[in-house]
This record gives sequence, structure tokens and C-alpha cells, in this order.
Amino acid sequence: MENDKIKSRIDELINNINKASYEYYVMDTPTITDQEYDDFYNELLYLESKYPEFKRDDSPTSRVGGEALSKFDKVTHNTPMLSFDDIFNEEEIVSFDEKVRKVVSNPEYTVEPKMDGLSGSLLYENGILVRAATRGDGVTGEDITLNVKTIKSVPLKLNKPIDIEVRGEIYMSKKAFNKVNSDRQKNGENLFANPRNAAAGSVRQLDSKIAAKRCLDFMAYFIPNPTDYNIRTQAESLNFLKELGFVTNYKLNKVAKNANEIISFIDELGSIRDELPFEIDGAVIKVNDLDDEARLGVTSRVPKWGIAYKFPAKEVLTTLKEIKFTVGRTGKITPNALFDPVHVAGSLVSKATLHNEDYVLEKDVRVGDVISIRKAGDVIPEVVEVKLDRRKEDSIPFEMITNCPICDTRLIKKDSHHFCPNIHCPARKTEGLIYYASRDAMDIEGLGDEIVEDLFNMGYVKDVTDFYKLDMYHDELMKLEGYGEKSISNLINGINRSKDNSLERLLCALGIKNVGKRTAKMLAAKYKTMDDFMNASYEELVNIKDIGETIAKSIRDYFDDEKNIQIIEKLKAYGVNMKYLGAEVVEDEDFAGKTFVLTGSLTDITRDDARDKIELLGGITTNSVSKKTDVVIVGDSPGSKYDKAKELGITIWNEQEFLEKISKSDK
Ligand code: IVH
Repeated sequence: MENDKIKSRIDELINNINKASYEYYVMDTPTITDQEYDDFYNELLYLESKYPEFKRDDSPTSRVGGEALSKFDKVTHNTPMLSFDDIFNEEEIVSFDEKVRKVVSNPEYTVEPKMDGLSGSLLYENGILVRAATRGDGVTGEDITLNVKTIKSVPLKLNKPIDIEVRGEIYMSKKAFNKVNSDRQKNGENLFANPRNAAAGSVRQLDSKIAAKRCLDFMAYFIPNPTDYNIRTQAESLNFLKELGFVTNYKLNKVAKNANEIISFIDELGSIRDELPFEIDGAVIKVNDLDDEARLGVTSRVPKWGIAYKFPAKEVLTTLKEIKFTVGRTGKITPNALFDPVHVAGSLVSKATLHNEDYVLEKDVRVGDVISIRKAGDVIPEVVEVKLDRRKEDSIPFEMITNCPICDTRLIKKDSHHFCPNIHCPARKTEGLIYYASRDAMDIEGLGDEIVEDLFNMGYVKDVTDFYKLDMYHDELMKLEGYGEKSISNLINGINRSKDNSLERLLCALGIKNVGKRTAKMLAAKYKTMDDFMNASYEELVNIKDIGETIAKSIRDYFDDEKNIQIIEKLKAYGVNMKYLGAEVVEDEDFAGKTFVLTGSLTDITRDDARDKIELLGGITTNSVSKKTDVVIVGDSPGSKYDKAKELGITIWNEQEFLEKISKSDK
């Protein structure tokens, strides 16, 4: 083919693909079959590989992702990315409307679903996507262009060759979320708690090929400079976005004239929430007329022309099938509610803890009851209440068990909890094994509760030392349901990696009574080797700051038991590290002597690890912001601590800045 023909065929294919995507994603009315789409796409791929000089920057084939980045660049937003104040009930809607009416007469509002993802800003020049950024702290975000380019519902080229910034929500559909989590489960990886976390984790992937696989979506809802395009209302903004090629919620967005109409649109959204293909967590209400918007203005922090209404924590009804008792590592007995599986806030749940006897009696939960479940803090399921009007007449009141459900030893009661006093109870063993592998302890990826229970029940693992000979049972492990070659080799690698852990992890993992993560860390830093720690006398231990008689006694009890010494010797023989590797506190100019507060959710580092890092570099962490605070580290959806920090003019770092500062100190 001659060059001109190749170029024009490439243009034609891109047009066909873009048109098909627009009809599919924006209009919800596909016009070509999947096969036809694939044929266009494959021909384009072929031409681009044969004639790379003609590959266009806005080609849909660039959606598969590219080279992995080492970090995200920082991006300063052209206008700050603010968010609205949250409200939770009808009275607050009425009072928002009243406040608006003090400034404008006869206001109109758009009522839009509040997408539950994370907001993003997309910048187009001449109609071509040139930059995408996270909100960050509102002023500075991160450049996530490569990842956003993989989102099929983000147009790489607009229907008009204009310069524009568009804001909207990057989110994960319920379907994509279920798929990502079921893949992660198969691979023995930690599951995402909800689609929002999954979307946030995916968008901040340095490898855009991974982000591409997560099938994110984008819903456009805001143009920061609408008057540049002769737009006069928010509703017109939404239409304009649709014309440009963006997915908008055009079937669900409404215009309301007063608080009553707002409330009834919100009720409607609430009633169809479960049927929607994506999670929404409320409704966003914006004054429609842009002149009115300008009249209302912004406070120092939030716009006065809009508000975010949040649905009450979602409650779902189900039937309690059984109250099952489990025995913890310390012998503690916990009653658990097992119920018919129900979808709550984005995931399927079938059990919730009932804590202890008093809790069950207070709620008067009985087998066969209809109960309502919700996710506390959106993550942990909890039983809210019993629907007494639906209780069967013959229901039997709860009675606490008297003997251990596993070894039948008579239970003892301490404060509100019952305990199995038999230290050889097999249930305590599995819990101890699970604890050994857990995140705060040896942190062995892929070694979760269920596999540990299977390994114990099948006799492969009787104590923690047996984890280190699991590679001998490779073929048998392959037969375990849900495990394949990849997950088994991940598991074995994870176990082998744990041999290199620093001493504090092992000290914590052994499960010495009263020695948790923090105490273990302090002791490892002090004694440096397992041998020195094992030989520390009671008198010596009790004299350490923060170690009282109880802890000193449980440490000595542990090491005075010959069985435990044998375990440690075996671990040594398997090559498990017995030394403290943690650096002594390295004074770093960004951290040393400074006081830090963390707020909001961090994506790439856990809070505990962030605190540990700060302390290792010579800083101190506290929980509340005051004049004495030097730096506030801000994650997603920060709370009032962030506002206070701004008010007091305290230095603010976003997560990326924090990570950069720590990685600088690693060099
Ligand atoms: S408009 C000035 N519209 O909810 C705020 N936000 O505070 C402009 N959100 O952080 C945002 N759906 O991430 C807007 N239809 C919608 C939205 C929406 C979800 C998020 C957004 C923002 C928060 C609102």
C-alpha cells in the first residue's frame, strides 16, 4: 500500500472504533457486533506494527498500557479540585435549600448520583487527551495519564477539537470488581474491600498494563470553566460532556426545583441503587444556573453552591441460620452469626462476629431470626438488629455454650469473655498458625485462614516449623481446591521470603502472650538476637520501660517451656533469621524531631508501616493536629484533621510526597 492509503486506512479504522465505542459506552446502543469491532481493532494493530511511523498518539490500541513508571509526577491543578460538604439527612437538605434561597430567588438544582470512586481531572488540548490527574490534596495531584488512557470510557479524542478540562469519577463497576476479586482469591492475594478501594488501588498502579486489566470506568460530571463554552447551567455542562463523547449519568441526572423534589429524586436513587451496575454512595446536589453558582461562591474550603448527600450505612435483611462458636489463639470463644449470603456495600457476606455472650443477649439474637446487616466503616459486617415483628413464635433464646466446641474442655469466664483453658486445644493451634502468617507477624502472602486450616486438618502443618517444609508436599497441595501451580509457588516463595524477616516479626509471630507488634519491635531493637532475648531474666525484663510484670512473666513462661525452645531451634535450622535487621533510628532531616499526624486513607502503604517508617527516621506520630504538629500526611478522603492543618498553616504532604521522602531516605 502507498503511504497515503495506509494513513487514511488507519484514520478510517480509528474513526470506526471511536464511533463504535461512543455508541456503546455513551449512548448505550451498540451498532456493530463484537466480531466487527475486533476485526477493526486487529487490522489497526496489524497496520500500526507494520508501519509504526503512522501510529497515532490517540490510537485506541494505546489503551493496553505501556512501560511501567518508577513514580507518578506531580501535577498542579489549573483550578483547585474542591469537594462538597457531606450531609446525611432530609433536614440538612432543607437547610441547604434555605441557605441558597437567601442569595438567589427560585433556584434550580441538578441532582446526580454520587459515584463511589475517586475524582479525576482530564485535560484535553485540541480535543486530544494530554493529561489525567488524581485530585490529591485538591491543589496538587498525581499524573495518572497512562493509566487513564487504558479506561475504555475515557475518549482519547473528543468529538470537537477544543481545549477543555473535564472532571469526573474514576470507578470500578460491580462486575469488574467481582472479577478482580475472584482472580485475586484464586491467586491467594488480599481481596479489595469494595469497588472504591479497588479503583483507587488500580489507578495508582505504576504499571499501566496492570491498570488496563482492571477495567476501570469514568463518569464525567463537571467542567471547571463552563462559561468558556457558552454553557449557562450545570445541566448544559452535562449535555455538552455527552456531546464531546463522555459517559455521563444522563438517564439518572435530574433537575429539581425545591427541597421536596431533591428529596424525592434521592429516594428514587436509593430505591434503584442495588440494580445499578456501579456503586453510588449518595447524591450530589448542585445549583443549576451558573450565574447563581457564582453568586453563592465558595467558603475558604468548600463551594456553597453544592452539597453531597450520603446514604445511610447500607442495611440488608437476611436470616440467621446458626450461631457458630470459634476458638481464638488465646482460647477466647467468639459466637459468630452465620446467615444466608447477602450483598452489602459491594461484597457478598455470610458471617459477622457477635463478640461475646453479653452482646448476643443484649441484641437478643436467635437462630431463625430475620436480622439486618451492615458494614461498619464500610468493611466489617455487623448485625444491626433483629426484626422482632418477623420473629417466629417457637424461636429459642440464645444460650451460651459451657464447653469448648473443639476439645470439650469446660469453659472459664473472664470479664465478658469465655475462654477454653486447654492450652493443647487444636483450635488454638490453628489460630496460632494463622497468626504466625498474618500481616503484623511474618506477613506470608497467600497463607490465609482457609489454607492454614486445610493444611492443619490434612496433617501437613502441626506447628509453625512445618510451614518451612511445605515444598516437599507440592503435588499434594496442588490437589487442594482452588489452588493451582501459580498460587502454590507464590505460597512457597512467600514462606521462603519470610525466613529473611527481621527478628521483631518472628517475636510477634511466636504468639507469646501479651507480646504484640509494638512490644516485639521494641524488644528486638533492644536485644538484637533471639539468643540474647531468650536469655533475658525476669528481673532484667521487668526493668525495661513499658514492660510490666505481666509481660515479663509471659515472656519467661514462654521460654521456660521446652517445647517452645524446640520450635525456635527448628526454625533456626530451617534458616529463619534470628537477628534484628531494622536500622537503628536514622536521623533524617525531613523527619527527625518532627511531629506527624496521618489522616485519610493511604493507598500504597498501611498506616502502621507509615508510622513505623516515621519513627525509624526519627519522627514522632500523634493522633491529633495542634500547633505542635509539624507535618500532616493526607490520604484519600481526609477528615477534619486536614481542615485543621490548613487552618493552622501546618505543612501538608500527600501520600506520594511522603513516599518520595521515605524512599529518598532509603537511598
Ligand atoms: S461534582 C466541587 N458530581 O463526590 C465538587 N462530584 O464532594 C465538584 N462525586 O469528591 C464535584 N459523583 O469525587 C460531583 N456527580 C458528581 C459526583 C461527584 C461523585 C464525588 C467527587 C467529590 C465528591 C463530592
